[in-house]
Amino acid sequence: MSTDRHTVRSYDSVAAEYAAEAAAMPRWVATEIDAFVAELGGSGRVLEIGSGGGRDALELEKRGISVRRTDVSRGFVDLLRDSGFAADLLDPLTDDLADPRCPGVPYDGIWACACLIHVAREDFRAVLGRLAETTRAGGALYASVREGDGEDTSAHGSVAAPRRYAETYWREPALRSALADAGWTVRKIGRYTGRPDDRWLSVRAIRA
Ligand SMILES: C[S@@+](CC[C@H](N)C(=O)[O-])C[C@H]1O[C@@H](n2cnc3c(N)ncnc32)[C@H](O)[C@@H]1O
Repeated sequence: MSTDRHTVRSYDSVAAEYAAEAAAMPRWVATEIDAFVAELGGSGRVLEIGSGGGRDALELEKRGISVRRTDVSRGFVDLLRDSGFAADLLDPLTDDLADPRCPGVPYDGIWACACLIHVAREDFRAVLGRLAETTRAGGALYASVREGDGEDTSAHGSVAAPRRYAETYWREPALRSALADAGWTVRKIGRYTGRPDDRWLSVRAIRA
């Protein structure tokens, strides 16, 4: 059970660059935001995992949702704070997920776009379970993972500044059983293709 520190350091080193690249809202993420906000009835308090540059949190807030921005990468947390947002360094695998600003009150939902791809397969159910425990019954989950088999590591950068991102791929049946085991009732798993061969499984689920 561990978080890949190379991946986290890689994001640390490119946080501003990544945030600029990801600033434009993809159509499919906008569609998922619509569905998530509708599921919450247009209000509520949400824990965001892997906020990155903060694109989705801004949109959710525009739509009436209160968002706790978090990231496992200090680089993103600093970037968000420098832009004037509250943000917390938080690893969903090991840290206390309770909201320090609302002690004892579960979240109404979890937003985890394109970040659980970096959770190792053996830790995935534990992370989903921890997210379920911190969410009220009937609360909403949005998460996206890459579709495929096995694991891979993508390498970028230079010798002086090496970057390595560890990723785990999922097929729908295994994803569905991990979600169910962790206490989530799946409403829908959609498929989206980003760049060619960049296939995503997009999960809408409810806390059982
Ligand atoms: C591809 S970026 C997505 C960022 C943002 N959600 C977006 O959609 O633009 C992946 C995010 O996952 C975070 N991350 C890396 N390792 C993680 C882990 N083990 N658990 C949760 N998040 C992780 C990164 O710091 C980064 O914010």
